[in-house]
Amino acid sequence: MFTPDQARLAHELTTLAAISDAPPPAVTRVVFTDTDLRARTFLKGLCVDAGLVVREDAVGNLFARWVGSAPDVPAVATGSHIDAIPNAGRFDGTVGVLGGLEALRTLAREGFRPARSIELIMFTAEEPTRFGIGCLGSRLLSGALDESAGARLKGPDGRSLDEVRRAAGFDGSLSSVRLPQDSYAAFVELHIEQGPLLEQRGVPIGLVTAIAAPAGLRIVIEGEGGHAGAVLMPDRRDAFLAAAEIALAVEAAARSTGSADTVGTVGVCEVFPGAVNSVPSRARIEVDVRDIDEARRDTVLAKIAAATDQIAARRRVSATTETLNADPPARSAPSIVDAVEAACLERGVTVDRMISRAYHDTLFMARIAPAGMVFIPCRGGVSHRPDEHASPEAIALGTAVLAGTLARLSRAGT
Ligand code: GLV
Ligand code: MN
Ligand code: MN
Repeated sequence: MFTPDQARLAHELTTLAAISDAPPPAVTRVVFTDTDLRARTFLKGLCVDAGLVVREDAVGNLFARWVGSAPDVPAVATGSHIDAIPNAGRFDGTVGVLGGLEALRTLAREGFRPARSIELIMFTAEEPTRFGIGCLGSRLLSGALDESAGARLKGPDGRSLDEVRRAAGFDGSLSSVRLPQDSYAAFVELHIEQGPLLEQRGVPIGLVTAIAAPAGLRIVIEGEGGHAGAVLMPDRRDAFLAAAEIALAVEAAARSTGSADTVGTVGVCEVFPGAVNSVPSRARIEVDVRDIDEARRDTVLAKIAAATDQIAARRRVSATTETLNADPPARSAPSIVDAVEAACLERGVTVDRMISRAYHDTLFMARIAPAGMVFIPCRGGVSHRPDEHASPEAIALGTAVLAGTLARLSRAGT
């Protein structure tokens, strides 16, 4: 039975959390900022110290491999992300990276020797903050995003992904990021639940059977600006007010399915020129819609599109919608579900099957490998907030289950 070094792992999570652009307890770590690069250096150092063979690809995905006794057969992989949205907590993603690393160290410390190589992956930009779409690294790696679409991505500052990644030291063609289908025999991601169910049920481990289908839209509204005192109300073509109505239409569309599984959010609204005494001439909103049922998610997107047209016409503004992503859901592979369940059984740990409403790099790894996820509880189900919390005990248990799962998978079928 594997016993992770709980204190060391907690300490490493604390050290990583301090590499942040927001004051503690908040964490902000946006991809390819100096802060992100410092965090990567910290992680790379830990991987090298652990004796892993480290490689980075052209978009900054980091691979740290423990070479097995059968190095030529497809490896088993685990991992997650270390980027964090603005004003985030310290456990989203990091638990799967540092916990994944500790799982490998635990196995080595306890004398386990893998047949298949075991690889830790730190994926670039799981969060959509900078380039508008989430899971940038795993999308490219799995072929879900091709080189030309990747090259078209730009951040809010107008700088392209290519420019920013090269400035961060990641050269080479984006096409080189894509991995062949048979690169991995298995992929398992450890993550906090980001929801309340495990805590409410008093169950320490969640076994993810499917990941909900996410979609993202960027809507740019162009109206007419002017003096806030001088332009009379009947003459206005206020871009922000159209955006506000569209945001309410997103809420109405998400609620209209009558299912708690449909969610819609407008988390970004930028108003130009952003002066209190100026009628907004332009507004940009970003919309996030998800459902475990892809067809139902698409009906919500269609309702948002119809409402946007109608609101724009009535308010005499133009609205341009860009679909940033509209991904299908992913199902966990039976082989991974069985391995996680067996690892839990071996430890006498209770496990509940569940759906992930958040997306994860597993959504894309599932396209190129049998994949699945292990969840641990987080306090109150809170995530994407500075008060996000998972206990050191819960993290260590998740890491132990991950270690047991990787051990099984790295023996299987070799
Ligand atoms: C990932 O961070 C998500 O938004 O689900
Ligand atoms: Mn997140
Ligand atoms: Mn995450």
